[in-house]
Amino acid sequence: MTKYLNAAPTQHAKLLAWVEEWVAICKPDAVYWCDGSAAEYDKLADEMVESGLATRLAKKPHSVLFRSDASDVARVEARTYIASAKKEDAGPTNNWIDPVELKKTMLGLYDGCMKGRTFYVIPFSMGPVGSNIAKIGVEITDSAYVVINMHTMTRVGTKVLEVLGNDGEFVPCIHSVGKPLAECESDNGIWPCAPLDKKYIAHFPETREIWSYGSGYGGNALLGKKCLALRIASVQARDEGWMAEHMLILKLTSPEGEVKYVTGAFPSACGKTNLAMLIPTIKDWKVETIGDDIAWMKFGADGRLYAINPEAGFFGVAPGTSMQSNPNAMMSASKDTIFTNVALTEDGDVWWEGIGYDAPGTLIDWKGNKWDAATATEKAAHPNARFTAKASNCPAIAPEWEDPAGVPISAFLFGGRRPSTVPLVHQSNSWEHGVFMGSIVGSEVTAAALDVKAGTIRRDPFAMLPFCGYHMADYFKHWLEIGEKSTADKLPKIFYVNWFRKTADGKWLWPGFGDNSRVLKWIFERCNGTGKAVETPIGFMPTVDAIDRTGLEDEVTAEDMAELLSLDKEGWLKEVESIKEHYAKFGDRMPKALYDQLAALEARLNA
Ligand code: GTP
Ligand code: SPV
Ligand code: MN
Repeated sequence: MTKYLNAAPTQHAKLLAWVEEWVAICKPDAVYWCDGSAAEYDKLADEMVESGLATRLAKKPHSVLFRSDASDVARVEARTYIASAKKEDAGPTNNWIDPVELKKTMLGLYDGCMKGRTFYVIPFSMGPVGSNIAKIGVEITDSAYVVINMHTMTRVGTKVLEVLGNDGEFVPCIHSVGKPLAECESDNGIWPCAPLDKKYIAHFPETREIWSYGSGYGGNALLGKKCLALRIASVQARDEGWMAEHMLILKLTSPEGEVKYVTGAFPSACGKTNLAMLIPTIKDWKVETIGDDIAWMKFGADGRLYAINPEAGFFGVAPGTSMQSNPNAMMSASKDTIFTNVALTEDGDVWWEGIGYDAPGTLIDWKGNKWDAATATEKAAHPNARFTAKASNCPAIAPEWEDPAGVPISAFLFGGRRPSTVPLVHQSNSWEHGVFMGSIVGSEVTAAALDVKAGTIRRDPFAMLPFCGYHMADYFKHWLEIGEKSTADKLPKIFYVNWFRKTADGKWLWPGFGDNSRVLKWIFERCNGTGKAVETPIGFMPTVDAIDRTGLEDEVTAEDMAELLSLDKEGWLKEVESIKEHYAKFGDRMPKALYDQLAALEARLNA
C-alpha cells in the first residue's frame, strides 16, 4: 500500500489525475508533494547523510557531497531520444524511436520501479514565478538528490501551484533512477541507477512530455534544465516565434556607465559559466551575471530581443574552477552547495584538479577510494564533477537577473574549443552570415557527455547539438526567420570567439578567463559602431591594435596577437570542405540561404 505523506496542495484535476496514473504505474512506498521550503531541503539532505549517500562538509556551510555510480557521471547522449511522431521531424542529429513503441518499452521499465522508495512531486517554474516568459513543469522523481538539486536550480513549490491554478498548463516530467528496492533492501550509501542499456532520456515533442529512466545525474535527471528548458522549449519557441538557447547571459558595463547585455552559445564545458562570471582585467569595466547556461528570448514591442535566465542556480563544472580562474563561481559554491563527484579532504572540504592549490594530504577520490597525489594514477575528481549552487549566492549576480521582462540583448557570441584555424574573434557581416557562423560551431570534445570521444572536433551547431528538440535544419530556418522579424539595428550583432587557440607546442595562445574582457570591450565598441576592424573573407576582425592589451603586453606580444588574429586561408579552405560534409547530413531540409553563405565564403577565400 502506498502511503500519502501529505495532502495534495492543489485541485488541478489534470495534475492530480496524472500523479495518480504514475503512482499506479511506479508503485512507490510513499507519495510526497514538495513545497520548496528550506526545511524540506534540510530534511532530505539530512536523510541522505544519515543513509550514507551524502557527506556533510565541515568546511563548506550547509553543503553536501555525493559520489555517483561510475556509469552515471554525465549526460548520456546515445540514450537520449526525441520521439516525435515522424522520424524525419527529429532529424539526423537526434536519436529517434517511435513514440508508441518507446512508451511501451519504458512503461515496462517504470512498472513497479519505485518499490521501496518515495515518489516526490516537484512543481517548478523555469523563470521568475509568474513571468510571462516563464514556464511551469511538474517533475515526479524517486530521488531526493534530484529534489534538492531542483530546489537550487529552479523555483520549486506552493507559489508555483498558485500560478498554475486549477487548469494552468504544465510540462509533465517523469523521472526514476530505475532501481526498485526489495523488501528490507536499502541503497546502503550506493548511488542508485540502472545500467546504461536501460537508461532512457525521452522527449515527446508533440505532446510536450519528458520521460527519464535509469540515471540520477545532471541533465539526465534535473528535467527542468536540458529536457524542458532546451529540448521541449526549442519546439515551443519554433512554434511561437521565440528562442530557447544554450546560452549564458551577461551584463557588461563600460567605464562611462553604459550597459550592454550579451549572450554566448558555447558547447558544454567550453566556458559559459566562466564568461558569465568573469572579472575584467581592464580598468573600470564591469561584468555581472544574468545566467550561465540557458537563455529564453522574446521580442519586445521595441523590436529588440529580451532574454531571461529560466534557471535559479548553476550546475557548474568543478575541475579547472579556482580563485584565480573564476572567484565568483568559487564564492557561489562556498555555501548551500551540492557537490557531485569531487574529491573530499581529510578536514571535510572539497578538492579537484585545477582548484588552484595542491591536494592538502590524502583525499577520498570521487570513487570513494583513498587518493594520494604522490602515487595516484587517476584523477581525484571526475572531469565532469559539478557543483549545484544558488545564483543568489553569486557575488556577481546582476540586480535585474530576475526581472520578469528580461534584458535587451546587443550581441550574440558563438564559440568552441578550436586549437587552430579559428581566430580569437571575428564578426559577421549580416544576420544571415551570423546564422551561418552559429550553424558551423565546432569544438574539441569535452567530458560533459559520456559517449562521445574526447579530443576530436565535432560540429555542435549553436551549441545545441545535444539539445535541439527537432530537425536541426528546421532550427537553422527558425534562426533565419527570427532575423526577418526585426531590423538590423535592433537585432543582436553576431560574433565568433575562440579562447582556445594553441601554439604548435600545445600551449594556450590566449590567457582567457578575465582577459576575455578585452575581447568583450571590442564587441561592446562594435555594437556602438566604433571599434577598429578590417573586413576579411571570414568577416570583420579587429585590427591588431584594436584589442586593449594594457598590462598584458608581455604575456601576449604583438606577434602573438598577430597570430591570434591571422586569417589562416588554407585552414579555412579545409574548413569549407568540412562544412560541406556537415551540411550534407541535413539533406534537402537545409535552408538555401546557408548554402549561399558557404559558397560566398569559399568565393571570398579564393578571390
Ligand atoms: P556546461 O556547464 O557544460 O554547459 O559548461 P560551460 O560552457 O559553462 O563551461 P565552463 O565555464 O564550466 O568551463 C569549462 C572548462 O573550460 C573549465 O575547465 C574552464 O577552466 C575552462 N575554460 C573556461 N573559460 C576558459 C578560457 O577562457 N580559457 C581557457 N583556456 N579555458 C577556459
Ligand atoms: C551541459 O552538459 O551542457 C551541462 C551539464 O550544462 S548538464 O546539466 O548535465 O547537461
Ligand atoms: Mn550546458
